[in-house]
This record gives sequence, structure tokens and C-alpha cells, in this order.
Amino acid sequence: MEELSGGRESAIYRDGEVVYRPLQPWSSTIHLVLKHLEQANVDESPKFLGVNQDQEILSFVEGNTYNYPLIGAIATNTALMSAAKLLRKIHDSTASLLARLDVNAHRWMLDPREPFEVICHGDFTPYNVALLEDTVVGVFDFDTAHPAPRIWDLAYSIYSWAPFKTDSNDKLGTISEQEVRAKLFCDSYGATELEREQLADAMIQRLQALVSFMRSEAGKGNESFAENIEKGHLQAYLNDIKYITENKQKIRYALCNT
Ligand SMILES: Nc1ncnc2c1ncn2[C@@H]1O[C@H](COP(=O)(O)OP(=O)(O)O)[C@@H](O)[C@H]1O
Ligand SMILES: [Mg+2]
Repeated sequence: MEELSGGRESAIYRDGEVVYRPLQPWSSTIHLVLKHLEQANVDESPKFLGVNQDQEILSFVEGNTYNYPLIGAIATNTALMSAAKLLRKIHDSTASLLARLDVNAHRWMLDPREPFEVICHGDFTPYNVALLEDTVVGVFDFDTAHPAPRIWDLAYSIYSWAPFKTDSNDKLGTISEQEVRAKLFCDSYGATELEREQLADAMIQRLQALVSFMRSEAGKGNESFAENIEKGHLQAYLNDIKYITENKQKIRYALCNT
């Protein structure tokens, strides 16, 4: 058994083609999503194989994994474009599940957000995908999946992939270069004009929701969130909200004009 890095410590293990992750109160909902993706031939996502006491058993997704700072294959336009196409594929394929799901009858880690258009991954970032050479061929870590409009996932993904980040470890490129990458993501996803117009505001709202969630979890005694706040992660999101707010008009202009 090998411990997998890139997420929580001492929690995620691999044994050959199988991955063990801790079961959570919302896991049975996520298993429905993973089973649906398998039936819809979204082979890039892990397959749900079963549960074992307090762990879920998923298939191992092949490929190289990365984290910030974005260097090498993960920083290429090929990676960005293939990520956007995969997000589109996941969204499109979840619409039919959502149509027959009673959203409020299931538990979710993140609150469902209306209008329910698709099931968002919730954390579709460079550290939750797998690459073969420069192409994104897999995605994992579906715990944060929840029903929401497409723009809600697009906002957090583009924030992470452009990336509109100011932290010295996480930042990449100038604001203009980030806008070019954000536009490429929108183009590859097939974002509508309205989604492009709304994107900068949606990024701010999505980050504000994340900050509220982190504060509320830490307030409930969730130690990993308290630790995240202590490490400065919440402050980093607040700094990024300020950065995106300052550049809002410029981002909107770059996304909406060809
Ligand atoms: N099904 C999977 N296939 C391949 N690698 C995985 C899979 N699940 C997790 N991993 C690896 O383990 C790391 C941590 O898992 P992840 O599900 O992202 O945990 P966390 O929820 O703590 O972020 C990931 O970054 C990835 O490298
Ligand atoms: Mg992860």
C-alpha cells in the first residue's frame, strides 16, 4: 500500500489499480455521480468500486499529477484546453442525472446552488487532474461535487487555471497572460457570451463562498480548515478576491472580445 501525496496527509492510499479514500457523510451521493459518469463513458473519472469499512474504493486514474507552482506540462496551453474540454464533457453528461435526482434528498459537501444546470466538480483545479504528456486525461477528488450552474465551476476552474492568483508560490504570468489563458479556457469549454460577461463576478462570488465555508468549518471545530486558515490560505483567497475585483473590467473585456 502506497500513500498518495497531493491531498490530505495519511488519508489517500493506492494498492495497484485501486485507491482508498476516507468515507464522508456525502460519499453515497458522490458514488451516484461516479456511477453515472461511468455509465456515460466519462472514462477520465475514477470508477466507484465499493466501500470497505470507513473507506471508499475507487479505480486509480493513470497519469502524471502536479501542483502549484504550475511548471512544465501542467502550465501548457494544451493542458489548459484539454482541461476545459474535460470539464465540458463532465458537465454535459451530468445534466441527465440531475434531471432525475431529488437534489435536496441527498447530502453534499458544498451547498447546491440554483439554478441547477449541471453537477459541478467543485474543485476542478490543476492539482486534481492527471496528464499524459501535455494532455489532461483524468480527474479525481469528486468530494466537492454539487449541483449548480455551469458558471459556478467555470469560475473556480478558470481562477485556478489562468491562474488569477497572487500568492508568490501559486502565481503565473501577468494579468494580460492570465486573461489570454482564461479566454482559451472559455473558448475550449464553449462558454456562452453571458457566461463570459458574468465570469469575473462569478469568480469573486465563488471565492467569497469558499472563504465563508472555510470559516464556518473551522468554527465547527474542523481542524484541517483551522489549519488551512492558520497557514494563510484564507488570506490568499481574500488577496485574490481583491486582485480580481481590481481587474474585473479588464478581464470581462478580454473574455468577451475576440
Ligand atoms: N482515483 C485516483 N486515481 C489516481 N490518483 C488519485 C486518485 N485519487 C486520488 N489520487 C491521488 O491522490 C492525491 C490526493 O487525493 P485527493 O482525492 O485529491 O485528496 P484530497 O481530497 O485530500 O485532495 C491526488 O492529488 C492524486 O495524486
Ligand atoms: Mg485533491
